[in-house]
This record gives sequence, structure tokens and C-alpha cells, in this order.
Amino acid sequence: MKETPAILLIGAGRWGMNHLRAWMKLQAAGLCRLVGVQDSDADRRDEVAKEYGIKTFADDSGLAQADAVDIVVPTYAHFEVAKKALSAGKDVMVEKPVTMTLAEARELEALKKKTDRVFLVGHLFRYNPAADYARKLIVEGEIGKVRFLRGRFMGFRFQEHDAGILATTAIHFLYLSDFFMGRPADSVWAKTEHMLGNKLDDLALIRLGYDAQFSIVESDYFTPGKWRTFDIIGTQGSIAVDLLNQRLELHRKRHVRTGERFEAYDGGVIRPEITFQEPLELELRHFLKCVGDRSEPMTPISDGRDAVAVVEAAYQSAETGKTVRLN
Ligand SMILES: NC(=O)c1ccc[n+]([C@@H]2O[C@H](COP(=O)([O-])OP(=O)(O)OC[C@H]3O[C@@H](n4cnc5c(N)ncnc54)[C@H](O)[C@@H]3O)[C@@H](O)[C@H]2O)c1
Repeated sequence: MKETPAILLIGAGRWGMNHLRAWMKLQAAGLCRLVGVQDSDADRRDEVAKEYGIKTFADDSGLAQADAVDIVVPTYAHFEVAKKALSAGKDVMVEKPVTMTLAEARELEALKKKTDRVFLVGHLFRYNPAADYARKLIVEGEIGKVRFLRGRFMGFRFQEHDAGILATTAIHFLYLSDFFMGRPADSVWAKTEHMLGNKLDDLALIRLGYDAQFSIVESDYFTPGKWRTFDIIGTQGSIAVDLLNQRLELHRKRHVRTGERFEAYDGGVIRPEITFQEPLELELRHFLKCVGDRSEPMTPISDGRDAVAVVEAAYQSAETGKTVRLN
């Protein structure tokens, strides 16, 4: 492997443009070399070439010049594009969800094992400093034993067009629930709605079970505001984390038994300083590090596969109304 990996970005849509800007920054820092941008849409290619003056590709002709690819195409195209890149011997990073179906994720995982390439799935919130901070507080016992979590990834906005809100949006917080709990959920129950009246769900309410503990995740396109929050409630205190602004509150609040009653004890709140860092840039930097030292990413393909398994089980639950066991 050369000193600075050559990167091909595939997909320069709404989110891909954020990747492009981050790659440009990393290239300017001498950490990688951008081969160019591949996009099937001519207008997108023209805009990218005009605005950034970089090479664009309508087909796979840029692949041969790349050491690694970053795939930011719609979810339904992840599988084919990632398969082609892996088969061509490239290291791969792909947006979440890794694939539309669990069967596709498993096939990619088998191929990845054979080719021994680096494969990172873009579970972006794992690269959020506030998420790390919250997990550290949990591990250090600051809130005692976790009773339950409540994650809200919602806000009034356009509807994603490539998959339902459960698969594209709630998945971020299903993944984070496991991260905060330090283990995979053992069951899932979900309810989805189609309030806009098309085939993609636009509201999802999910309950993940972890033995006696649980996590509730809410996602929708209707609630005003922009919610990226988690409440993590423990026996000795609670954490309220705002992942958008990377702010966190540690509440020293707990119930204390006095005779037959429980009194609410309030020991105040601590707001630790967290230095804001752009999660996408941290994610891409991490990918480059893994490409450089051939290490396993923090969000490997096995995590991507497990997240898709939870999403599939959640859709099954939404259809049947029943809780689905995982694993
Ligand atoms: N991590 C996050 O926070 C986050 C946020 C938004 C979107 N995403 C993910 O990013 C991906 C892209 O989402 P988006 O909103 O940018 O979609 P988009 O539709 O705006 O952009 C997709 C782009 O890919 C191009 N494209 C489609 N098929 C292609 C193919 N086979 N080869 C090359 N180019 C192709 C399209 O022309 C388009 O320019 C999705 O998987 C989505 O889930 C992640």
C-alpha cells in the first residue's frame, strides 16, 4: 500500500457531497488522494466537476486507479456497488445500512473474508465524541445499572427516498443502543406508520430488549425540531446526551428508599466539556487509518450485518405485531 491511499467516491448526492467535502479536507491535509467521483447522474457529475474541479466518472473506469472506495449511493444499490469494489480488490467503506437485506449483508461478509480487504460500515454515531463520553460514564459506573434508554432521532424534514425511516434513520440509534448497553439486544418489537401514504415507512417506534432492560427508539419526519438525543436512565443517575450538539448532562438523581416509600433525591447536574469534532471527518480518518495499518474498523461489516438483522426483525415485528427474538 502506498503512503497516501487513492480514494474513489461513488455517489455524490445529498449526503455524498458531505463526504466529498470531508475527503477534500483530508486530501489537503496530505492524508489521501482523491481519484475522483463516480456518479450515474450526468447533472451531478457536471456540478461536482464545476464546483470542485475534480475528475468524474460515469462508470467503473475510475475503480482501477483507486486503492479504496467510499460508497454513498442509495441503500438499494449498496450491495452491487460494494460487491464490485470488493471483487476488484479494493478496501471499502459504505454508508449504513450496509445492504437492504440480511442475505446481501452475509454475502458481502463472506466475500470480504475471502478478499481480506478493509470494510467499514458508516454507522456515523459511533464516531460521535458525545456517544463515546456517554459510554465511558456508563462503564465507569457513574449512573449505576442502566434501567432503560430512550433515543429520539426525528424532526420535520423531507422523506428519504431509498428506504423506510426504520432502515435509514432509526438504524443509527438501534446501533447506538447496543453500543451504550455494551451488548446486542435480545428482542425487538416495532410499530411503523405510512402517514404520507407511500410504501416507505415514515414513523417508527422500536423497543429493543436487553434481558430486563430496554431501549425505546423513536423516528419520524413530522415532529418539529431536530432531535438526536438519548436519555440513559440508571439506578444512581441519568445521562442526557445531545448528539447533534455534542453536549451531555450527567444528572445525579436517584430514588432512595425511606421505609415504604421512595423519595426522589436530586444531587444536581454536571455538564462536562466535550470538544466538538465532526463525526464524518473522524469516520473517514478512521477508515484511512485502517487502510494504512490493515486494522479492523470500529464499525466492521459484522456490525453492519447485525444492524440489518435488527432492522429486518423490526419490520417483521411491525407486520405481525409480535416481539421477535434476536440471535
Ligand atoms: N450517515 C448518515 O448520517 C447518512 C445521512 C444521509 C444519508 N446517508 C446514506 O447515504 C446514502 C446516500 O444517500 P443520499 O441521501 O446522498 O442519496 P441521494 O439519492 O441524494 O444520492 C445518491 C447519489 O448516488 C448516485 N447513484 C445512484 N446509484 C448509483 C450507482 N449505482 N453508481 C453510481 N452512482 C449512483 C445518484 O445519482 C445520486 O447522486 C444512503 O445509503 C443513505 O442511507 C447516511
